[in-house]
Amino acid sequence: MKTLSDFSFRNKTVLLRADLNSDVHKDRVLLSERIKESAKTINELRRKKAKIVVLAHQGRPGKSDFLSLRQHAKLLNRFTKIKFVNDVVGDKANKAIKNLKQGQAILLDNVRGIKDEFHPEKARKNKLVKALVPLINIYVNDAFSVCHRKQTSIVLFPRYLKSCAGRLLEKEVNALKKIKLKDCLYILGGAKPEDNIKLLKGNKVLACGLFGQLCLIARGKNLGEQNKYLKKTIKNYNSVIKKLRKRLRNVEMPVDFAVKQRGGRKELKVEEFPSNYEIFDIGEETQERYVEEIRKAKIIFMKGPAGYCADRKFCKGTFVILRAVADNKGFSLIGGGHLSDAIEISGVSRGKFGHVSLSGGALLRFVAGEKLVGLEVLKDLRGELGGEKI
Ligand code: 3PG
Repeated sequence: MKTLSDFSFRNKTVLLRADLNSDVHKDRVLLSERIKESAKTINELRRKKAKIVVLAHQGRPGKSDFLSLRQHAKLLNRFTKIKFVNDVVGDKANKAIKNLKQGQAILLDNVRGIKDEFHPEKARKNKLVKALVPLINIYVNDAFSVCHRKQTSIVLFPRYLKSCAGRLLEKEVNALKKIKLKDCLYILGGAKPEDNIKLLKGNKVLACGLFGQLCLIARGKNLGEQNKYLKKTIKNYNSVIKKLRKRLRNVEMPVDFAVKQRGGRKELKVEEFPSNYEIFDIGEETQERYVEEIRKAKIIFMKGPAGYCADRKFCKGTFVILRAVADNKGFSLIGGGHLSDAIEISGVSRGKFGHVSLSGGALLRFVAGEKLVGLEVLKDLRGELGGEKI
């Protein structure tokens, strides 16, 4: 796989696929490690006198965190200099790319606003390919965390353009190559349960986040209002529950939760459900039990927060677990953009963990031994030469 060290970028127009996807609270995008780290790659390309076009996503169509990237540009500007262009494949984007000078950067709008992002199979007719490839010299993928997605901005550009890995992607891949996860304790949380199921192969698992709730439902528990919320929010809810039912061996589940009552935090035992309250965190007894397990572990992989960390009241479970993992003397791998952000506000030093990845689903698949389409195309010789014509 080629890296930023393998090309001369002077006066070259570079398409940088970054992952800026961040937590959103009340329509406000929160500053994330992904944003800070992406700024470093942008700065390296600026120093190398490239003309930089950043392509990224936020959320997915239909979800509440699906937003324009205007706020991301503002946040990026704390660490680099970049102009937001509220267009991706139209005249505005075309003009802005053509007008770029050496060392300048622009951020195009949310790539997931273009339907063809989800249709890489349409290759030559693809609007993103048709609009951007003729304007670009080199494609840089710095979004390891999206490399499991067979989406246009990840898999198609290397077919037509000279391509390489950005520094962030390079760093992730190098760190992960060193990791052996046999006999590992998995702490699985976050909001993407389907990913977690891939790791339920017999290792000891501490379930938290939405995943922990789904495990309880799969075991037959009715959580009341939260069941309704999960049915609405979780893609393929029924199939997730069905799959989980068969794989709960060695999975430890929450025994209590924190719910929101009159804007505050209230603890409820699992036996007190079904309840009219929605769940926002694991409860204190669950935290104690999980900390005991963490103390005994030799290798730990934690993915996703234990609760709704965008609201400080509900960070407690995540912070307690993170502190216990940090105190453990064994190797720890921390994954998921949201969890990485939670570390930042928890006050626990990043250096206390073996490796803090900014990826969630991609990392999990990598750990589960799957090939990531985004990495495969970068390794492909044709990808490196960008030989195909559009
Ligand atoms: C992530 O947050 O894991 C990446 O940005 C990928 O997002 P996705 O799961 O919506 O594809």
